[in-house]
Amino acid sequence: RKRTSLSGKTVLINGGPTYEHIDPVRFIGNHSSGDTAVYLAREAHSRGARVTLVLGPTRYTSHTFPFEVVHVTSALQMHTECLARAASADVIICAAAVADYRPAEYQINKIKKNQDSLSIQLVKNPDILADLCQSKKAHQHIIGFALETENLTQNALTKLHQKKADAIIANSPGPHTGFATPTNQVTILYSDGTIHQSSLVLKNKLASWIWDHISEHFQISQ
Ligand code: C5P
Repeated sequence: RKRTSLSGKTVLINGGPTYEHIDPVRFIGNHSSGDTAVYLAREAHSRGARVTLVLGPTRYTSHTFPFEVVHVTSALQMHTECLARAASADVIICAAAVADYRPAEYQINKIKKNQDSLSIQLVKNPDILADLCQSKKAHQHIIGFALETENLTQNALTKLHQKKADAIIANSPGPHTGFATPTNQVTILYSDGTIHQSSLVLKNKLASWIWDHISEHFQISQ
């Protein structure tokens, strides 16, 4: 398989977790490392694409990249920054582990432990992938990720159809796959029913595999 060119293409990628602040010292987050998004962005850049990476809080915060990186914290910020940059993108990959819910109210002062139990009301965050697909342009291909602990293929297909994405890259959390592991194994499920399954490989090699397959499937280099 030849390494496909992304010359002349504009690519928007999001990645990492989002942090939903509860009070000045606490947040709700997850274990996403942002590695897959960073590797996808590096690979797209090395194939000649103009790349923007919208990245949640990760160890890459003070890193220098040879392409545009927009650092965000919360799902609402990630939503705003992604939607503002979507129109010019030919390919959008949503690799971020966006928090599904955020605290309904932010407490300006640190919450004190003077109660035996504490409830924090959560409200749903916007779905960035679904909203990007909602305003999809004719020239765009929009790809999401799905991390599932059970019924991987069925749940990924449901997301593909519900969110109206062009493809979903499905993976499972495990000792060698999913969040914060150096390796991963994925299945790409396309809206036309095509399925591509990768082997278990290092995440940087996987990024190259993903670009080869989606470029060929959507005929992006032509
Ligand atoms: O529904 P679920 O979170 O499993 O879907 C995963 C896909 O949807 C990922 O591509 C993720 O980036 C995207 N997503 C999003 N906004 C959310 C939740 C998920 O863009 N609020």
